[in-house]
Amino acid sequence: MGKSKEIKTYSDLAGDGGSDIMGQVIAHKAKIEANLSGIKQVIAVGSGKGGVGKSTISMYLASAFNRLGKSVSLLDADVNGPALARFAGLTDAPLIPGQNGLIVPKTKSGIGVISFGSLVPESEAVDFKSVASGDSHVWRATKEFSTLADFLADTDWGKLDYLLIDLPPGAERCFQFAEFFGHKTSFILITIPSEVSQGVVTRSIAAIKKTPSPIIGYIENMSGYYCIDSQEVKPLFPSGNAKLDIPLLGSVPFDPSVAEHCDRGTVINYANDSPTNISLQSIATKITNTLEV
Ligand SMILES: Nc1ncnc2c1ncn2[C@@H]1O[C@H](COP(=O)(O)OP(=O)(O)OP(=O)(O)O)[C@@H](O)[C@H]1O
Ligand SMILES: [Mg+2]
Repeated sequence: MGKSKEIKTYSDLAGDGGSDIMGQVIAHKAKIEANLSGIKQVIAVGSGKGGVGKSTISMYLASAFNRLGKSVSLLDADVNGPALARFAGLTDAPLIPGQNGLIVPKTKSGIGVISFGSLVPESEAVDFKSVASGDSHVWRATKEFSTLADFLADTDWGKLDYLLIDLPPGAERCFQFAEFFGHKTSFILITIPSEVSQGVVTRSIAAIKKTPSPIIGYIENMSGYYCIDSQEVKPLFPSGNAKLDIPLLGSVPFDPSVAEHCDRGTVINYANDSPTNISLQSIATKITNTLEV
């Protein structure tokens, strides 16, 4: 047997091993900040709980802001399970580099959407190359964050009133994203009335409060069921309404046509006077008044 190779550990490295890793991180953060400087408000839409309507509310809020005459784009931070490209009808929109960075695909009404759903068809997994096969779980979160950092730094966002960021599920992720985006990004939390959802969202709020990131308030989604036949909002969950320790921005009933428009990618054409739409429009107005944008 030959002499075994000497295995080095991190403690054998002098300083940062010559990588200037801290310098690189600081430079990248500065690049992101400079690239977002034309945006008046960056708002992350999170929850912690999965499937409560983060992506749906993000898309509809963007649409409601658009109707108020605000310029708005969306960043789908759910790299793993992107939804916004489909909701916006932009699954076939290519992401093309332009002179000042990645060109943001837009809906007919002018809402910009950056989503992995425009890059990777639903029939394919979103894969990140790992340095060692079988170890992708080690790299995954790091790769996801570095991909998002690249989207933030290298996209030509232009001048915007709002950039809405649709977060993936996971209570611990709210904390990670709050740290990642920094204190200039405000949070809106989405819950449904169930106690289990309120429990997870309460945990997320506690996590965000450990950071300097401001929380604007919460939206109660699926607060009831809008029956198109009787045009009434009927109870959906037995637990009554959600009560969290942050301002309530509004309650949004479940409306089957909303689910249909999401699936079909026709959200933007949809502006009727259902209680769901009226509520989302009034939430957008409330946010606009609160943030004075
Ligand atoms: N108020 C609503 N009315 C009708 N359908 C809704 C409503 N809110 C959400 N949905 C539907 O419920 C499903 C889940 O919503 P959505 O994908 O927005 O949840 P999510 O919280 O983003 O999920 P994930 O945790 O996977 O990111 C979608 O099919 C969506 O269209
Ligand atoms: Mg989602």
